[in-house]
Amino acid sequence: MIAFPRTALAQELVTALQGKMLLGDAHNGLFLAAPRRTGKSTFLQGDLRPALEAAGVVVVYVDLWADTRRDPGGLIAEAIARALEPQLGLVARTARKAGLEKLKVGGLEVDTSKIGKVDGLTLTEALRLLHESARKPVALIIDEAQHALTSEAGEASMTALKSARDQLNQPDTVNLMLVMSGSDRDKLLRLVNTAGAPFYGSQIQRMPHLGLDFIAHVARLIETQRPDLNPVDQKALQNAFEVFGFRPQFFMAALGQVLSPLAALTGRFEVALLEAAQQQQVQDEAQMESDYLGLKPTEQAVLWRMLEQGPRYRPYDAEALKFYGDKAHHPVSVAQAQKALESLRQRMPALVWKSARGEYAVEDAAMHRWFGSRSATGRWPPTGQAG
Ligand SMILES: Nc1ncnc2c1ncn2[C@@H]1O[C@H](COP(=O)(O)OP(=O)(O)OP(=O)(O)O)[C@@H](O)[C@H]1O
Ligand SMILES: [Mg+2]
Repeated sequence: MIAFPRTALAQELVTALQGKMLLGDAHNGLFLAAPRRTGKSTFLQGDLRPALEAAGVVVVYVDLWADTRRDPGGLIAEAIARALEPQLGLVARTARKAGLEKLKVGGLEVDTSKIGKVDGLTLTEALRLLHESARKPVALIIDEAQHALTSEAGEASMTALKSARDQLNQPDTVNLMLVMSGSDRDKLLRLVNTAGAPFYGSQIQRMPHLGLDFIAHVARLIETQRPDLNPVDQKALQNAFEVFGFRPQFFMAALGQVLSPLAALTGRFEVALLEAAQQQQVQDEAQMESDYLGLKPTEQAVLWRMLEQGPRYRPYDAEALKFYGDKAHHPVSVAQAQKALESLRQRMPALVWKSARGEYAVEDAAMHRWFGSRSATGRWPPTGQAG
């Protein structure tokens, strides 16, 4: 299927990035987090990029996961260089023909032989050059931005981008827009959450998942291709999509299966779709159960408390420590609780998420649903036995 366009969301973000919203801070950098496979990259490239371009912005897109062997700092520099090339190509060729070795663009002197490469230029200079030669604002979209924190060069380039932003932007003009996205909110937070972090003071926003308009679109597609199924039950589709964790890929794959002539369905396809979603959920929950059972007693107790308390969770208050002690069957000190939290965060994939202010939460919201349904039916804590 062709990606469903998310024009309204893109437009909203363009306005925010331009600093035209009454409230908000996106002109200082927009940080977007969303769970894996929910359509971040598709949105950034397929919706946000063209919307920015239509608004007269030069867009540079770079995915730091595109090649994990490459240094993130190098990838960013290269993406800017690629964007510079068409802007400067003509000017540079003319200048070279005229025998000019140095070229003045805006306030910057550029070695004509180096155009198209950013070596010799700082990121700020390269971005300024791009902005001044294009005579347009520049937006730099960095997908999986948290990966920049894995190398010193990557970290340095984040600091350089912050400084470029501060140099290029004035209170009433935004010349450099920064968009960073990632599936790992906890790591993305490191870009913003301490006084020493490059983008200290910025907030991480949750990128919305595909909504009812997407479901309506899919329903229309089905109704057009299979008039015999008209009208499609959109509420049931939405339900199934939610059970699939708002991941379009799983949802569309299951739809393809239940609509296939080979499926030999006797009833409505919506019912079969919901069943497929639930099956996937059962598999996901079996995974959560085995993860939970593999934890040390203190880690289990900490996770249990977190699931039970939700946003009210306080990791080290007296009640929490008593709870840990009761469940783990031995006294648990603050240091031990801290160690357990840390090891839950360090796991791959992480089970626990930590906010800038030291608030903790489970990483995967699906765990709350799992805990809720097990508790409601008296099946908590998991024991490893069926049921
Ligand atoms: N707007 C959309 N309409 C239809 N399908 C979509 C849409 N957005 C994403 N998808 C599908 O969902 C899948 C995941 O999309 P995408 O790679 O954009 O997600 P992501 O959040 O960047 O994933 P990852 O965490 O792996 O980087 C892809 O198969 C894509 O085709
Ligand atoms: Mg992606």
